[in-house]
Amino acid sequence: MTTPMTTEAIMQVALDLAGLSDIPSDSGIHVRSDNVRRVFATIDCDMADLLMARVLRCDTVLTHHPEGAASLHGWKLIARQVEQMVECGVPVAKAEAAIQRRIQAVELNSHARNYARVVQAAQLLNVAFLNVHLPCDVISRRLIAERMAPFTRPESRATVAEVIAVLQEFPEQRLAATEPKVRLGASDRFAGRVAVAMAGYTNGGVDVLRAYFEAGVGTVLMMHFPEAELREAREQKLAGNLVITGHMASDSIGINVYLDELEGRGLEVVRAGGIIAPQ
Ligand SMILES: [Fe+2]
Ligand SMILES: [Fe+2]
Repeated sequence: MTTPMTTEAIMQVALDLAGLSDIPSDSGIHVRSDNVRRVFATIDCDMADLLMARVLRCDTVLTHHPEGAASLHGWKLIARQVEQMVECGVPVAKAEAAIQRRIQAVELNSHARNYARVVQAAQLLNVAFLNVHLPCDVISRRLIAERMAPFTRPESRATVAEVIAVLQEFPEQRLAATEPKVRLGASDRFAGRVAVAMAGYTNGGVDVLRAYFEAGVGTVLMMHFPEAELREAREQKLAGNLVITGHMASDSIGINVYLDELEGRGLEVVRAGGIIAPQ
C-alpha cells in the first residue's frame, strides 16, 4: 500500500534533509498534485522522460537538474560558494571577487534557455512535476565532506590516490562507469587539505579553484569542470590537485538519500534517468 503525498510535502522532505528553510531558486514545484503515489525519479528530464513516466504508470516526475523558472534563477545560488571558500580560509572579499566571472557566464547562458518547454509538456500530459536540485547536492556534499574529514588535519600525509580511494567507498561512485579523474596535479602527490566544492549550483571555474589553492587547500573535489576553464588552470600552472569526482556518481549520492526517505514514507519510486542505484 502506498501512502499518497502532496508535491509540497515531497519538497519539504528534501528541505528538511538538507537543513534549508525555503525552496531554493534552483528548485521548484512546476505542476502540483495532492495525490502523489508513484514517482519517476531522474537526474535530467525532457519530454521523453515524461512519456516514459506515463508508460510506467507514474503520476509524478521528480527530476534533479533545474527546469522551468528554476533553470532561469538557479544561478543566484552560485554566490553560496563564497561561504564555502571562506570555510576553507579564503578571505571573504577575495572569495566574492573569485566568483564573479562564473556568476556572469552562467546568468548569461541561463537567460537564453527555453525554460518552459518541459514544464508545459508536464502540464499538457497532466503529470505532476518538480525538480529538487540544491537540497540533493547539499546532501551529497555533506556525506562526501564527512568522509574527507581525516584529510583536513594538518598532519595528514595522504596522497590524492588515497583521497580517491575513500571517495570510492560510496557504492554510487564504485558502480558508476566513470572514475574520478585527476585533472590537475597527480594521484601520487600529497593531497593536503581537501575542499568539497559542490552544492553551489555549478562549479566555480578557474578563479574559484585558484582561490582555494591560494588559501592553502591542496586538493579540490568538484563534480565537473569546463574544458576552457581547465585549459586556463593549466596555463596558469596552478599548484594543487583538482579531482573531478564524476557528475552522475556524485549527484546520485544525495538523490538516493532523498529517494530512500520518500520510499520510507510510503511512496513508490522508479529510479531512472541516469540515477546510479545500488541495490
Ligand atoms: Fe547536482
Ligand atoms: Fe548535476
